Amino acid sequence: MTRAAREREGVVWIDGAVVGIGEARIPVTDHGLLYGDGIFEGIRVYRRRVFRLDRHLARFGVAARHIGLALPGGIDSVREIVFETLRAFDRDDAYVRLIATRGEGALGVDPTTCTTPRILCIAARVSIYPEQKLRDGVDLVTSSLRRPPADVLDPRVKSLNYLNNALAKLEARQRGADEALLLNAAGMVAEASVANLFAHRDGVLRTPPSTDGALEGVTRATVLELAAELGIPAREQTLGRFDLFAADEVFLTGTGAGLVPARSLDGRRLGAGAPGPIFEKIRGAFADATRRLGVAFDARAGRGAREDRGSAD
Ligand SMILES: Cc1ncc(COP(=O)(O)O)c(C=O)c1O
Repeated sequence: MTRAAREREGVVWIDGAVVGIGEARIPVTDHGLLYGDGIFEGIRVYRRRVFRLDRHLARFGVAARHIGLALPGGIDSVREIVFETLRAFDRDDAYVRLIATRGEGALGVDPTTCTTPRILCIAARVSIYPEQKLRDGVDLVTSSLRRPPADVLDPRVKSLNYLNNALAKLEARQRGADEALLLNAAGMVAEASVANLFAHRDGVLRTPPSTDGALEGVTRATVLELAAELGIPAREQTLGRFDLFAADEVFLTGTGAGLVPARSLDGRRLGAGAPGPIFEKIRGAFADATRRLGVAFDARAGRGAREDRGSAD
């Protein structure tokens, strides 16, 4: 495959080799396809450094344990697969989609018929929202779907069961909005379809606790840490829609989209309807953090930036 084609399409590590994204094939009896039985991670690469890799691998490892899936070769092997994929993609900036499926099995939901989990690692480019949305803010609508409670499908697990998220997003798009606000079964704010949510009011930045139905987002944790460094009071707190309308700033966080201001909810303006000063401050600090908190995937990443393996991350 030519470099040009790789850049256009992206690459995928599959069954021990890296191939062009259009060449990769998985058997139709893989339970990841048949039943959504598996887990994934979305990871970002900035300037040849994998942002918060250890956090992502830790979450992937916990999710694997939660669903009783033994990662072939363990987490160190998964880390090597990420690096191998990125070296093949050979771009300064990338989006990595790491997947572990239950593997091939019988046509029945029983996971014990699957012998070997399958690891896939895609490196490509991603653009969740157009530039103008990142600048001006996204419009949200409250989804008619609720986040499933933890005793149905724990939203803290990034599983391959994203139908709840996909249908919430579809509904939002069909209602003319950019993004869905998902509440939990108690009617409190959980998160957006694939992003966490923050609201700033009376000098305090708040985000729902993960037990309210939010993924423990890597970007979310980074924002909480950066807020502390910037001297902005920040905490986890249960939020209702009331708190969003009362807030002076609302924004979303996620690996794919980054930090995104929210300008309206259900047709009503949020805050001043434009990115606010707290958001701008944190977005600036986050851009700096992408330089500090990354692991080089090859020798060309240059010196000076800190690796975040070990206690630093
Ligand atoms: C449901 C959901 N919530 C929140 C997030 C944001 O998490 P992170 O910052 O780790 O990407 C994601 C990311 O894909 C997600 O799928």
